[in-house]
Amino acid sequence: MFINPTRIIFGKGTENEVGKYAKMYSDRVLFHYGGESIKKSGLYDRVKKALQDENLTVFELGGVKPNPRLSLVYEGIKMCKEDNIGLVLAVGGGSVIDSAKAIAMGAVYDGDVWDFFTGRAEVEKALPVGTVLTIPAAGSEASTGCVITKEEGQLKRAVNSEHIYPRFSILNPELAYTLPPYQVACGASDILAHLQERYFTNSKHVEITDRLIEATMKTIINNIPKVLQNPRDYDAWAEVMWAGTIAHNNLLNTGREGDWGSHDIEHEISGIYDIAHGAGLAIVFPAWMKYVYKHDVKRFAQWASRVWNVDYDFFDEEKTALLGIEKYERFLRDIGLPTRFSHVNIGDDKFMEMAKKCTDYDTHTTGTFIRLDSKAIYEIYNLAK
Ligand code: NZQ
Ligand code: ZN
Repeated sequence: MFINPTRIIFGKGTENEVGKYAKMYSDRVLFHYGGESIKKSGLYDRVKKALQDENLTVFELGGVKPNPRLSLVYEGIKMCKEDNIGLVLAVGGGSVIDSAKAIAMGAVYDGDVWDFFTGRAEVEKALPVGTVLTIPAAGSEASTGCVITKEEGQLKRAVNSEHIYPRFSILNPELAYTLPPYQVACGASDILAHLQERYFTNSKHVEITDRLIEATMKTIINNIPKVLQNPRDYDAWAEVMWAGTIAHNNLLNTGREGDWGSHDIEHEISGIYDIAHGAGLAIVFPAWMKYVYKHDVKRFAQWASRVWNVDYDFFDEEKTALLGIEKYERFLRDIGLPTRFSHVNIGDDKFMEMAKKCTDYDTHTTGTFIRLDSKAIYEIYNLAK
């Protein structure tokens, strides 16, 4: 089954139309955002004006941190319940959008919203969510995902539900012009990771989605150096922003099972050390590949040759696969990302604890390409030292 109900409004100046779309859902809006970036860029003022021009009543909750925290979600839920808010509008990146989604789930639930993250309860409904995206990265603007960190226990956990697909997302590539280069790179790493989680599958006869994933990866690889060189390159940003959405809006996993082990393994890192998710993935994903590639060398060799332009050596497919992994890692380094724990000064003292947490203390495995237990995850962390 495939469904994606998110209305996408794409192009220059589209944030000025946000009032019109918000009004379709409610005249009482929670305007949710992160730190100072939207105030510095003037986006905050433009969004506020667009909402007020439609005579909407606006409630505000800023302060979402990267790796969004449960405590702020509780604040938002309280506001929604007390003020009878009908739409949560996220203006920001994946962190703000995920915080908005969690608020939207909690606002119409009598219990503790964390129940959804532990699997104690199923999401049955949520307030509508709208977004104005400021960074191509997480894909949350058109995804079923929501990732929140519970401060107590440093637990970073995800929920997936069709009820939290945003109703609309405003994508103006100009809004990405103000991004610091490191955040651009982290976003690229996350987008590539979303594509690779889907690509490395045991499902057979998946040519159409293989080809679409490869094309989306190549689009990122071609355009990220352009936006790093010229942060005001609209055309390159437009490619990146749309690729980021397509990478995670569930179209590219039709007919195939995704892996998602690297994401689970990464969430333990950003949960404890509070590093950017994309940076954590740049450390984990190449190590995961080195650990699993022998499971399907042909698939890795295909990826290496089609995506990374490695010459396909039919006599030595393993060499082809390994050269692809090497080129991927080099790309990540070239755009300024860490690819080893040592690059972000993280030692190995918590590797076992993270591996255990990732399997909820050996009660399940992670990943589907190869099912990984805590021992395997521990080895992957060690490969990334
Ligand atoms: O807080 P402000 O001041 O806005 O600064 C942010 C933040 O510091 C800044 N930023 C964003 N847009 C900007 C900007 N700075 C200048 N100009 C702009 N236009 O960038 C920093 C990072 O923002 P964040 O929202 O954290 O980035 P991202 O979009 O990468 O989101 C990461 C979060 O999404 C989760 C991750 O785990 C992480 O918590 N994910 C969510 C997914 C989903 N819901 O489907 C899937 C992903 O796999 C991912 O796990
Ligand atoms: Zn991700």
